[in-house]
Parts: sequence; C-alpha cells; structure tokens
Amino acid sequence: MAKILTHPYLQSLLTKLRDKNTKYSVFRDIVRDSGRYMAYEISRELDFKKVTVETPLGIAEGLVFCSDIVLIMILRASLPLVDGMMEIFKHARVGVISAKRIEEKKENNTIFNVVIPYERIPDVDGKTVIIADPMLATATTMIEILKRVKERGKPKKIIIATLIASEYGVNRIERLHPDAQIYTLAIDKELNENGYIIPGLGDAGDRAFGTS
Ligand code: URA
Repeated sequence: MAKILTHPYLQSLLTKLRDKNTKYSVFRDIVRDSGRYMAYEISRELDFKKVTVETPLGIAEGLVFCSDIVLIMILRASLPLVDGMMEIFKHARVGVISAKRIEEKKENNTIFNVVIPYERIPDVDGKTVIIADPMLATATTMIEILKRVKERGKPKKIIIATLIASEYGVNRIERLHPDAQIYTLAIDKELNENGYIIPGLGDAGDRAFGTS
C-alpha cells in the first residue's frame, strides 16, 4: 500500500508546488524542502539502534540512525528532491540515472518507452534504496529503474519517494514490484494522453529549472 504523508506542513508545500503561479526558483526551493521533510518522515520506519551516551553530568540512553541508505537520483527532475533528502540522510551513497521518456504513437494510443543513456548505481546489497522521483505518472521509468536496481544486488528495503503519484502508476508498481514501498504526498486520479498527472503540478523538471 502506498503511504500518503499527510503532515499539514508537507501538504502546504505541495499546495505551493501545484500553484501555477509559483516561480521556478521558489518551486525548486520548495521541492528541496519537501525532500528534507519527506526524508524525516520516512526515517521513522528505518533503523535506529539504542546507545548510551555520556553527558557532562552522567549517562543517558539514546538512539543513533543506522540505516545504510542509497539514494537514487533521476536526472533531471529529482535533483532538488534528492538534495533535500541528503540533508537528513547525510551518509547516503547516491546513484545517478539519466532517463528519457520516448513517446511512440500507435494507432490511437501513445506508448511510453524509456531509454537510459547514463547509469551509475552504487552497491545496493543489504542497503535501503530510496528512489526519488517527483512524479510517479505511468511508472514506466520507475519500473525500468527498479529492474536495474535489482540487477545490481539485493537491497534490504526499497522505497519510492514521490511528490505526486497517479493511481495508475501506484497500481502498476504494486502489481509488478510489491516489495517497493511508495511514499507520496498525494495520489491523483487521472493521467492525460501525454502521460501527465492531472491535476498534478505540470512538468516537474521544467518547473524547477525554468525551462518550458
Ligand atoms: N512528469 C512530470 O514532470 N509531470 C507529470 O505530470 C508526469 C511526469
């Protein structure tokens, strides 16, 4: 089951991202903030171990974060999202994947394929792999990335962190990769004929980098 992060502060960031009047530089900052707070929320379900520490006046019980994290950044839209997550997961190793969606018109249908011109994934064996992509739309790119991550090794846990997912994308991931846990701020109902999420927030890469 996909988990929707319902914290009102995160939801207020999402509202600003959806607003078409949010300027690209502000959009980019808010994606970074969203990445930071999403990582904070996700960390609840990761590994901590009990320790004791010596304060200047005695001994106290405490916790240290001990999940070994691999963050996967998908160029280019996930750059600010991963940047924000790295502020929480400071020791994360980072994999970079460049993915390009290719649209193919067949009769009345548009088919989406994906090509990966560049890929550099660290060792994932026994690690918690977090794949960050702002939009989980058709899930075609995500399915290709999950395949490549699993070819690389056997992660302890796989997490998909996304700002907005479509119902269609969530259903595809749950069917094909039930071991991947999706965290999102919203699940929108529709996809348009170009594979964009409706109402969504538009093209996350264009909105973050001021291109269109
Ligand atoms: N990628 C985006 O940036 N936006 C969408 O709505 C779908 C895919």
